[in-house]
Amino acid sequence: MNRFLKACRREAVDRPPVWVMRQAGRYLPEYREVRRKAGDFLAMCRDPEVAAEVTLQPVRRFGLDAAIVFSDILTPLVPMGAELSFGPAPHISNPVRTPDDLERLRLPQPWSGTEFLSETLARVRAELDPETALIGFCGAPWTLASYLVEGATSRSFTKVKHFAHHYPNDFDRLLEMLADAMAAYLRTEVEHGAQAVQVFDSWVGTLGAEDARRWALRPARRLLQSIADLGVPRIYFANGGTHLLGDLGEMPCEVIGLDWRADLATAARSLPQHAIQGNLDPGVLMGPDEEIRRRTLAMLDQAPNPGYIANLGHGITPDVPVHAMKTFVSTVQGYRYE
Ligand code: CP3
Repeated sequence: MNRFLKACRREAVDRPPVWVMRQAGRYLPEYREVRRKAGDFLAMCRDPEVAAEVTLQPVRRFGLDAAIVFSDILTPLVPMGAELSFGPAPHISNPVRTPDDLERLRLPQPWSGTEFLSETLARVRAELDPETALIGFCGAPWTLASYLVEGATSRSFTKVKHFAHHYPNDFDRLLEMLADAMAAYLRTEVEHGAQAVQVFDSWVGTLGAEDARRWALRPARRLLQSIADLGVPRIYFANGGTHLLGDLGEMPCEVIGLDWRADLATAARSLPQHAIQGNLDPGVLMGPDEEIRRRTLAMLDQAPNPGYIANLGHGITPDVPVHAMKTFVSTVQGYRYE
């Protein structure tokens, strides 16, 4: 079994596996080339040949331990009724602002409307080395609800909080519907070749502990629990969730993804039942190679073993030099457990 899947299950490995959130993206010249020809980001996601190619680009260049299928957390909202576009920032032109707006949302059952992703997964799996794992993903209910209500990435999240506070029962219904939809979506991904799944809760950090428990962790638990029978490792990435470490220890998943604000050693002690993924500040990749190496080694020395997957603490940014990514990845690849 490959190193990434073993580490997810907290089994012994020779060195930490490594992959990077947003590894297929604009910091890569070969991605920019494909992107320029394709024109539209959503069109790229919907073309399995193009999506498979960009999924494989970083794996070829860096020899990563896992590929993450190319798509976006928001694409499955389209079959649910969202009018979505990217410029490249996402925009939803028919946001959910009142309980009545919920009536236009659909939960395709069985899941349908993202068949392009199934084909991309099958194509990538056919080309990948058995030693490289294929990760599927989705957005967590709170993060997706934020986009559905705000209609875009927000600074303040006031529209979604307005909805949640004024219509608490309807908001719970929305979160449950998203949990059930994403469970069906992930199930489809696994049926088509995903060997692990990551649930991105990018906006947990906008909520205080009490609200996070109700609006983020509870529906995420429902989602993670309902795919337990698939038997693939489940990663919950709780961006900005350092104030919730005690609660994260109870999430029904194999791996907790940490952002760079978390102290790795402290977090690992709070999460003895989980493997840990993360958490180098993506901003470190803007520094000199020597500093990248030093900070990466310091992170690896603090990380738990077994049960650790090296990654950044959030997505790699488009302005990171390719050699900086190479330095990060090869530092992990050169590390050995005693
Ligand atoms: O390589 C990979 O990680 C797989 C592909 C992937 C993308 N988005 C491609 C993408 C993944 C896993 C995502 C997840 C995603 N999308 C998240 C969760 C992770 C996080 O960052 O917290 C979120 C919040 C989104 C929503 C989203 N999509 C935003 C805010 C943006 C625009 C911001 C930006 O980077 O400009 C996107 C667009 C997007 N998704 C791009 C890519 C490569 C850039 C579009 C382009 O190439 O024009």
